[in-house]
Amino acid sequence: MVVGIGTGSTANHFIDLLAGMKGKIDATVASSVASAKRLQGHGIRVLDLNEAGQLSLYVDGADESNEHLHLVKGGGGALTREKIVAGASEKFVCIADDSKLVKVLGKFPLPIEVIPMAQALVAREMVKLGGNPVLREGFTTDNGNIILDILGLEIIDPVALENRINQIPGVVTNGLFAIRPADVLILGALTVSGRWDKWALR
Ligand code: A5P
Repeated sequence: MVVGIGTGSTANHFIDLLAGMKGKIDATVASSVASAKRLQGHGIRVLDLNEAGQLSLYVDGADESNEHLHLVKGGGGALTREKIVAGASEKFVCIADDSKLVKVLGKFPLPIEVIPMAQALVAREMVKLGGNPVLREGFTTDNGNIILDILGLEIIDPVALENRINQIPGVVTNGLFAIRPADVLILGALTVSGRWDKWALR
């Protein structure tokens, strides 16, 4: 199979594990330049998504998840490509540690990828929605855009907010993965004995 690969420190662990089972997969599609480089460094084939077509599986981390597997992502700034690869995959498996599971999304600042000329417009609109936008200084996405991190949101209806933010002109996409949530969430938990246990939601 061709596997979609996420971005971030957790996804990096997955990439490194994949290196030991290269023979079991045909190729990968990466959600960032950084993940593509790491995969290629292990000698794992990386395809362009247009070349790969529909993927059976996408594996990625998250910054937050609620019990419905609605996610906040984009702490590493790769949210747009992550959303594209997730959208092209039949199954999205999210891997994270149990600190990422929350009751209400929004404590982690919500990243929005914005076309640079729309920075002030999007910031004003996000203030109207109750957020406090902060420019991620010195950061450019793989697509040549900026990131606004939105603090202070209490995200009661993630699907509605994801839709609403994406209607603002100049927004490429936002870090809510609620319209297409994860299908499986695998959480690692550190037990008192210091041993890692794994358990899965759904
Ligand atoms: C990258 O843009 C993000 O969506 C990451 O997947 C997310 O921030 C999780 O990252 P860590 O595994 O580094 O916590």
